[in-house]
Amino acid sequence: MISIVGAGKVGSAAAFNILRYRIGDVVLIDVFENLAKGEALDMMQTAPAIEFDGKIVGTSDFSLMRGSDLVIVTAGQARKPEMSRIDLMNTNAKIVKTVVKEVVKYAPNSKLMVVTNPVDVMTYVAYKESGFERNRVFGMGNVLDAMRFRSYIAMELGVSREDIRALVIGEHGDSMVPLVECASVSGIPVTSLLSKEKIEKIVNLTVTSGSDVIKLKGSTTYAPASVIAIMADAVLRGRNRVMGVSTYLQGEYGFSDVAIGVPVVLGKNGVEKILELELMPETEKRFEKSVSTIKEAIEKLK
Ligand code: NAI
Repeated sequence: MISIVGAGKVGSAAAFNILRYRIGDVVLIDVFENLAKGEALDMMQTAPAIEFDGKIVGTSDFSLMRGSDLVIVTAGQARKPEMSRIDLMNTNAKIVKTVVKEVVKYAPNSKLMVVTNPVDVMTYVAYKESGFERNRVFGMGNVLDAMRFRSYIAMELGVSREDIRALVIGEHGDSMVPLVECASVSGIPVTSLLSKEKIEKIVNLTVTSGSDVIKLKGSTTYAPASVIAIMADAVLRGRNRVMGVSTYLQGEYGFSDVAIGVPVVLGKNGVEKILELELMPETEKRFEKSVSTIKEAIEKLK
């Protein structure tokens, strides 16, 4: 069973993906009970068309998350066009702390996926507040960045998006680090197919991709919701998928006491393993800068 806290745009769309891909039953929780109930009812009525049998409950009662394998936190404010993810920090930290207290109370053995932005700082807050082992608390951000990176590479080359593999590490934010050296088209390095200038253009588009959507329609929904389902599937089915996930570092990559996106093996226990890559010197510098950005934000937490 999966609980999703926050029945707003991202939480509801994620719930729908989890149901339609038959990953698990869903309890959708929001302080606005009618919103959660209405979303659940709407999804339930879709079931005959899409043919899923999973159960969906909408509620404001946190005790219904009892027995969850995974709790996904999407509760919080979303950023407005002129805001950075960091601008949301203190308001959302309060919300995340409240939610995590309920998780500890009702689902103390669950894994905890943080989506609320700024996701790396919120993952840190959730890890500290929960007292859970660090493998059980992780944030969604880099997989979404990687999907966007993959989409732009595919568009530039005019090939199937399915054949692009790519990894993004670092902050889910302006200092993210798309790993050009790891990007490939069915195993063919992207660097051998695209010029430096084109790759730079793609990297820049990847960094601004979230803001580009927000400027147009106010929020991002389908892409994050799909990625949440991919991560939920990795955990619920113990698939040991390799992806960039925000996780609390204890010396890996030379850093401690910070949550940031690094490649991990994601499986039934959450972060099964952190993969420590040897980074190219230029990439290492960008990653260091990204760590500093998050550490500075954490210091500003009230
Ligand atoms: P939204 O405003 O549509 O939904 C947020 C929901 O949280 C609202 O329904 C609100 O009632 C609920 N909520 C607030 N406090 C709560 C509490 N204490 N307990 C239960 N529910 C509570 O926002 P949207 O678009 O769904 O975004 C949600 C969050 O996800 C934002 O912080 C946004 O920035 C973040 N986000 C993160 C992404 C990522 O890649 N990590 C991608 C997209 C959004």
